[in-house]
Amino acid sequence: MFIERADLFLKLMNQRWTLTDGLANGMSRLLGTFGIKSGTLLDLCCGNGRVSIFMVKKGFKAVGVDMSKTFIEDAKRKAEQHGVVKAVTFLEGDVRKLKNVINPALQPFDVVVSAWTSIGLYSKEDDLSMFKQARQLSREDAILFVAETTHTEYLSIKFAPTSYTQVDDMVMLENRKYDPIKAWANTSWTFYSKRGNDLEYVDRVDLEHHVYSLSELSALLRKAGWETIASYGNLSTLQPMTPLTSMNIVAKAA
Ligand SMILES: C[S@@+](CC[C@H](N)C(=O)[O-])C[C@H]1O[C@@H](n2cnc3c(N)ncnc32)[C@H](O)[C@@H]1O
Repeated sequence: MFIERADLFLKLMNQRWTLTDGLANGMSRLLGTFGIKSGTLLDLCCGNGRVSIFMVKKGFKAVGVDMSKTFIEDAKRKAEQHGVVKAVTFLEGDVRKLKNVINPALQPFDVVVSAWTSIGLYSKEDDLSMFKQARQLSREDAILFVAETTHTEYLSIKFAPTSYTQVDDMVMLENRKYDPIKAWANTSWTFYSKRGNDLEYVDRVDLEHHVYSLSELSALLRKAGWETIASYGNLSTLQPMTPLTSMNIVAKAA
């Protein structure tokens, strides 16, 4: 999905840009309450750079890492369009080998962000290692956000086996399966292109991932050196996290 059909996922990613100003406002407001008004942010699995670029506009520097060449190239283009090239660095690389990807000159980080369910894609050991490495690359008083992430309680109440999304001339049908015992989600995305009143099949891509609960992820973060201090349903409004909202975690370097 993120490498071979990055062109298709990019359309969905671009749609998320419209939600990002609110997210960045909420994160910078919260960071202000910890005395962090500037500094450098590490954007894990940054996609095409929306979180990095919006946080640069809030006065931060940012380093985004993603394994998809297509997304990193688009992120660099967007940094130019937004006039923030000097304050942001986008690196193509694997977050499981974060310490090899990040040049020492770019560290230490004041803020780390993992946005839009960019966890659970591999093993729990891989997630632990990623958050541990991020902690080792960060300052003693750094803040971590795990933002806009799905969680087990949400899927137990709001699980929808099918849904569709339309972005411009692309229609995407999602067929989902969820195993609550293993907390394992499988989504099959079928992409169609609109041709008048008809839909023309483009491709099908499967994506599987582990789904965390708030307590399970907090325990994993603690092992990685991050202590969860708050959870929200939405970082823009700071509404409380409930089974009907997404999961947004704020953690402090321990
Ligand atoms: C759902 S997208 C989220 C993108 C971005 N965080 C956002 O909020 O727009 C998940 C991202 O994780 C990236 N990704 C998946 N595995 C990765 C890995 N091992 N190393 C770096 N990036 C990875 C994908 O390329 C994709 O951009």
